[in-house]
Amino acid sequence: MNDAASLTIRQVGHGDAASLMAFYNGLSDASRRTFRPLGEFATLEKCAAVCTDNEAGAKYDLVAVDSDEIIGWCFVWKDKDGANMFGLAVADAWQSRRIGSRLAMQLLADADARGMGEIILTVVKDNVHAVGLYERFGFEKYGEFLHEDDGLEYYRMVRKISCAEGSARDSSNATTRR
Ligand SMILES: CC(C)(COP(=O)(O)OP(=O)(O)OC[C@H]1O[C@@H](n2cnc3c(N)ncnc32)[C@H](O)[C@@H]1OP(=O)(O)O)[C@@H](O)C(=O)NCCC(=O)NCCS
Repeated sequence: MNDAASLTIRQVGHGDAASLMAFYNGLSDASRRTFRPLGEFATLEKCAAVCTDNEAGAKYDLVAVDSDEIIGWCFVWKDKDGANMFGLAVADAWQSRRIGSRLAMQLLADADARGMGEIILTVVKDNVHAVGLYERFGFEKYGEFLHEDDGLEYYRMVRKISCAEGSARDSSNATTRR
């Protein structure tokens, strides 16, 4: 394992599907408990779709790469309501080495530069390191919910941008939307 300082952070692209799948399916049960954007396990097809969507500009995903191996992943995807949904995970062996913070910092700077506006996320309430990281990057809690599928309690968080036009978040149903 190299020093975290020597990692490359770059956008997902053509040829990353297998490495992204290996990263996702290599997460521990504890990490997968709090991070499942592709379901319990990723398929090559789902990961290839992430790569294709990045090439087409429909998704924006960054990966941290060590010797051709993806060891961190951060993204903003449009959800079914058109909101910008943020996600972040770091391979277990690399956690607590500021890689999550570096990925979040770069992704949010890029999102701001692209004028993406407001960004939302959901986070398991007991995931205190993630909640702390998100608050440090300007996310604020605005709701909470109990997930029917996994029985876990989640916070909803939002990072507002003053220049954002047309908030995708409807504050009137902020406690019910997922
Ligand atoms: C949450 C996650 C992305 C954070 O990434 P990371 O690279 O481990 O985090 P960082 O090293 O950048 O540290 C972020 C903060 O958490 C703290 N932290 C992280 N892991 C810690 C640990 N094991 N013990 C104590 N503090 C810890 C850091 O000190 C830092 O806090 P600070 O800025 O107040 O000092 C990563 O732990 C992860 O992938 N977890 C599993 C998947 C997940 O839960 N994703 C988020 C879904 S919403």
